[in-house]
Amino acid sequence: MNIILLGPPGAGKGTQAKILEEKHGLKQLSTGDMLRAAIAAGSEVGLKAKAIMDRGDLVSDDVIIGIVSDRMDKPDIKEGVTFDGFPRTPAQAEALDRMLAGRKQKLDAVIEMKVNDEALVERIAGRFTCAKCGQGYHDKFAPTARPGICDACGGTEFTRRPDDNEKTVRDRLQVYNKQTAPLVAYYAGKGNLHVIDGMADIARVTEAIGAVLKKVKG
Ligand code: AP5
Ligand code: MG
Ligand code: ZN
Repeated sequence: MNIILLGPPGAGKGTQAKILEEKHGLKQLSTGDMLRAAIAAGSEVGLKAKAIMDRGDLVSDDVIIGIVSDRMDKPDIKEGVTFDGFPRTPAQAEALDRMLAGRKQKLDAVIEMKVNDEALVERIAGRFTCAKCGQGYHDKFAPTARPGICDACGGTEFTRRPDDNEKTVRDRLQVYNKQTAPLVAYYAGKGNLHVIDGMADIARVTEAIGAVLKKVKG
């Protein structure tokens, strides 16, 4: 099964994609995480992407389509994929259609997570991540059980993303509304769009996604 989580910055795509990986074995394919890994590794893609990401713009379609296509060829993708942060432009959506068709696969559902702008800014301002295992947290909405210690791995170092400041978040939102929001109509036209309330708490959103998966599995 292949699904897309579509939604603005801070909508909860990464949070839910991680849960889907644990619950349903769908691999999280986050282009944002892949780009951050490329930056950390100092690769050519990372060098190109860094300044673009820091100002909240989109990395070029060619680069993104290339890294997604490479990832889709890895053998660990058996049960399917949750696309997190991809596609983000009509050109990327069309490339994904071709990638899946070429691999005799299909897109089972596109889940649009709706969250209002002020909530997004609050979510992003409070986000932090375990430096060791990548588990995501939030100061207010998803704190660690014990202060300063990762629930998942016991790590004690945490990071915050350089693009998670209010100014860049508002720029990222504008980019989303202009370049990515048209995908809602694209997938609605194909008949596989499902809209859920991303304002609910994390567990409720997981339930809503589970209900969509059950429906499309039939
Ligand atoms: P990317 O990493 O994809 O960032 P994004 O789309 O801006 O989304 P975020 O990761 O900020 O939010 P999220 O929806 O994953 O929310 P999360 O679950 O963490 O992209 C970064 C950059 O890379 C882009 O700006 C671009 O430059 C580049 N890029 C990436 N993909 C690209 C592409 N395809 N094409 C071109 N460029 C690309 O949740 C946020 C916080 O809220 C967390 O702290 C979480 O704990 C909390 N939270 C989650 N759910 C809830 C809830 N229901 N209630 C309360 N709190 C919640
Ligand atoms: Mg994310
Ligand atoms: Zn950890």
